[in-house]
Amino acid sequence: MSTLDFDITPNPNPVPAAEREGILADPGWGRHFTDHMVTIRYNEDAGWHDARVEPYGPIALDPASQVLHYAQELFEGLKAYRQPDGSIVTFRPYMNAARMNRSAQRMAMPEIPEDLFVRALEALVEADRDWVPTEEGYSLYLRPFMFATTRLLGVNQPARDYLFMVIASPSGLYYSGGIKPVSVWLSQNYTRAAAGGTGEAKTGGNYASSFAGQAEAVAHGCDQVVWLDAVEHRWVEEVGSMNLMFVYGSGSAARLLTPALTGTLLPGITRDSMLKLAPDLGVPAEEGKISIEEWQAGVESGEITEVFGCGTAAIISPVGEVKGADRQWRIGDGEPGEVSMRLREELIGIQYGTRPDPYGWVH
Ligand code: COI
Repeated sequence: MSTLDFDITPNPNPVPAAEREGILADPGWGRHFTDHMVTIRYNEDAGWHDARVEPYGPIALDPASQVLHYAQELFEGLKAYRQPDGSIVTFRPYMNAARMNRSAQRMAMPEIPEDLFVRALEALVEADRDWVPTEEGYSLYLRPFMFATTRLLGVNQPARDYLFMVIASPSGLYYSGGIKPVSVWLSQNYTRAAAGGTGEAKTGGNYASSFAGQAEAVAHGCDQVVWLDAVEHRWVEEVGSMNLMFVYGSGSAARLLTPALTGTLLPGITRDSMLKLAPDLGVPAEEGKISIEEWQAGVESGEITEVFGCGTAAIISPVGEVKGADRQWRIGDGEPGEVSMRLREELIGIQYGTRPDPYGWVH
């Protein structure tokens, strides 16, 4: 339990209300930021200290800050949702706190007390509550992150000083095309993560190294890249920055499979929520293994009926077409699948307070 209090400096020049309302009516994704941000400092001697809510703006960094050279950095992502009564909730924020701390262990960074992490989110949402959209399907995306600020080019040891921050961005649909099935490219040239690497940590480097694979997908006319295992290049791991879900069968016989967390996959909170929701909706769910050959054969035999990516940002993103160097197939009829949409509706209903939350997920 952390007793650290936040020092609050209101922004003297907030975005004018009319301009803010214009942004909230069409926020796009990750382009606009609110009036405030949270900063909390850490050093080896003082621990976590100097917690602030302050005006959003540039930060000064020493050019030798360790993060700029050796990338000791972590981030998280979650959303704040406007409820029918006007109040605001977040979704499973302690899961994000716990994941950030697991990532911190992998990246030799300090853990942040979970309650301090959650209080930082609360403090920012409180300061910027007018930035939480009321439009259905929109939300305030919260981006907690932490990075090494020690002036240090030596690479024998991790940094001693860190900055934890939270910024917030009103968000509409992650994909501007809406919930349309995407085409995906099976990358056999690029690998996202290998055993013993940082694949299960939410660290910026994993995303930096994904851009070339994403560009390869686009060069092949696809929307997103599918990451395969690093050894055989045939076991399916993730799509873009999302976990993947496979629906077998349909109607009352539908069941869900998602690649197991082997250490190279990001343990998604939407993924975890789907694994819990699906069985309660009559769709048994399991974690397992699926190869690209099994994926293709399953679709061609009709056994696999729907495939979708899931993550906080896009919620679910159906996959409609798969291409690789020597293979290509289509899934479904170009419309989002029935099971995918049912799971999405249920999850969104809990997040937006239009359905009961038997899991105690909203905060
Ligand atoms: C998510 O699906 O929420 C992500 O992690 C994507 C984010 C990096 C924009």
